[in-house]
Amino acid sequence: MAIQKVGVVGCGLMGHGIVQVAAQGGCTVVVLEAEQKFLDSGLGRIDKSLAKLAEKAVKDGKATEEEAKAKAAATRARISGTTSKQDLADCDLVIEAIVENLDAKKALFKELGALCKPSTIFASNTSSFPIGEMAIASGRPARFVGLHFFNPVQLMKLVEVVRTDITDAQVFEDAKAFGAACGKAPVACKDTPGFVVNRLLVPYMTEAMRMLERGDASAQDIDTAMKLGCGYPMGPIELTDYVGLDTTLFIVEGWTKRYPNEPAFQVPKILRDLVAQKKLGRKTGEGFYKWEGDKRA
Ligand code: 3HC
Repeated sequence: MAIQKVGVVGCGLMGHGIVQVAAQGGCTVVVLEAEQKFLDSGLGRIDKSLAKLAEKAVKDGKATEEEAKAKAAATRARISGTTSKQDLADCDLVIEAIVENLDAKKALFKELGALCKPSTIFASNTSSFPIGEMAIASGRPARFVGLHFFNPVQLMKLVEVVRTDITDAQVFEDAKAFGAACGKAPVACKDTPGFVVNRLLVPYMTEAMRMLERGDASAQDIDTAMKLGCGYPMGPIELTDYVGLDTTLFIVEGWTKRYPNEPAFQVPKILRDLVAQKKLGRKTGEGFYKWEGDKRA
């Protein structure tokens, strides 16, 4: 595979998972965070997840305890953390997984464009912003793709690989091969709002919130209906809590600004109100529901 050394910017909810699956795929990974405490927290989550996967492999009879522990240790040994951007300079691929703010992402890619080797491919894990705008800011638009992973990255089997009109054909193939090495099924997407999944999923989640606002059904009944009626693992309200109300608001607000006349892209009042109350879902212990760790209370 052309991609051997990977840089990941951000070791939060998505970033730590991307770091882990890239290392599981055999890549050497260096993860950049603004402060050591954020690195420690993200790397701690990776340790827990690797231990969990090892335990599961033993339970499922796929490996002995010794083999599973050795595999987890080998994966962990491929991961290092840094707070210096300079350490990303010789990566074959750098994936951005920072806060969903287009100006911050563009500023980051401008800086990375100046310091990384000319062959480095850049990728954004953005949920909803145009890949083309970040590609231009990086100064190397032909070597830029979207690599959109899903939460929880360790378990979800998809990666959307997004190309713009000027993405180099080989870069796109290399990005797809990387996604497959991470254990994901890569799907090709054009640079359109929300790509495939979020273009369908986010309006579905916001419509569920509007049903709740109108009093058409309770949160529990909406979720039960979609779980049992459609076979989804989570209903739309629970999923919003799981993804994060702030992330969902960032996505929809970004779209409202760009496409003010599109009815599917309007922010429900209940979403804005809960975010204002800092009820962000699973990550703060309360959103539409109350949470204890990764499980609904
Ligand atoms: N690492 C390792 N193992 C993990 C893990 C992790 N991060 N998270 C969970 N596991 C393990 C659990 O410990 C459990 O192990 P066990 O079988 O030995 O007990 C196993 O994986 C299954 O976990 P759960 O018991 O929590 O099982 P569930 O069956 O409830 O599955 C779920 C959890 C996979 C999250 C499932 O509910 C689901 O698929 N939900 C929908 C998620 C979804 O739609 N994600 C996409 C969101 S949209 C998005 O990300 C895009 C963005 O841009 C907004």
